[in-house]
Amino acid sequence: MSVTVRVPAKVNVQLAVGAARPDGFHDLANVFLAVGLYDEVTVTPADELRITCEGPDADQVPLDRTNLAARAAIALAGRRGIEPNVHIHIAKDIPVAGGMAGGSADGAGALLACNTLWNAGASRVELLSICAELGSDVPFSLVGGAALGIGRGEQLTALETGGTFHWVFAMAERGLSTPAVFREFDRLAEGREIPEPVASADLLEALAKGDSDALAAAVSNELQPAALSLFPELADTLEAGRGAGALAALVSGSGPTTAFLARDAESAEKVAAALRASGTCRAVRMAVGPVAGATVV
Ligand code: C5P
Repeated sequence: MSVTVRVPAKVNVQLAVGAARPDGFHDLANVFLAVGLYDEVTVTPADELRITCEGPDADQVPLDRTNLAARAAIALAGRRGIEPNVHIHIAKDIPVAGGMAGGSADGAGALLACNTLWNAGASRVELLSICAELGSDVPFSLVGGAALGIGRGEQLTALETGGTFHWVFAMAERGLSTPAVFREFDRLAEGREIPEPVASADLLEALAKGDSDALAAAVSNELQPAALSLFPELADTLEAGRGAGALAALVSGSGPTTAFLARDAESAEKVAAALRASGTCRAVRMAVGPVAGATVV
């Protein structure tokens, strides 16, 4: 008796960042797009809470109670007054510490899987509220598709998309810590007036129309200068993708994964081949978006 949930990665097509708040978080206008790279989270009844992980980056995944998947099981069990006695197995394909919400995906996946396994009856609203407690990007991993996140990024509004977008992702040689990138953002912003983060009307329209050229013209990531400051070699990866005909090249979220928007599948193949040949990254993957959020398989 076990339950498996498949959860997608995300790319941020817009990440507008406000000034640091008193609680240390930053207000965001965060436009998420779920893309077809997936982790699969399987939960099975066990004598005690235990996590295992397989996949290319498995050695970098914490297997203790700091793992968002474990925290999700503990949070739901706590609300129901039961013990979180499950074996959580993560088949990991989303890069670790990559800016693609891999940890958040595992949190959302474990939550949905435990809710199903335990017949815990949590509604969508309760699941989303637990997700928001776990982390700013976790609610989006549950819902998928395309959405605007405000507040820390956890207050979501679903967005219309008029088509499928073709992406290429370049995985970097090492990870970047999200808090470190936000700290670098604060350092670079010192003495500067930071405007309120707002979603770009042009970007929302491009998504609604499914217009790749218009989306490429509108994408932006205000964490990118901070990520590049901590990881300057990423500029070479961005340049390699642009040179191969990508419509847009940007750092995904807090990085260091870089994301390239391509006109179509054929162009994506070309960009991917050029990135592989460039020697500026560890691995290259293609994926389309939007795709559905966490789904029981
Ligand atoms: O919410 P989450 O645990 O994913 O956030 C990780 C870290 O990223 C936070 O501790 C904070 O340093 C930073 N962060 C932020 N503002 C946000 C989201 C995350 O400063 N809106």
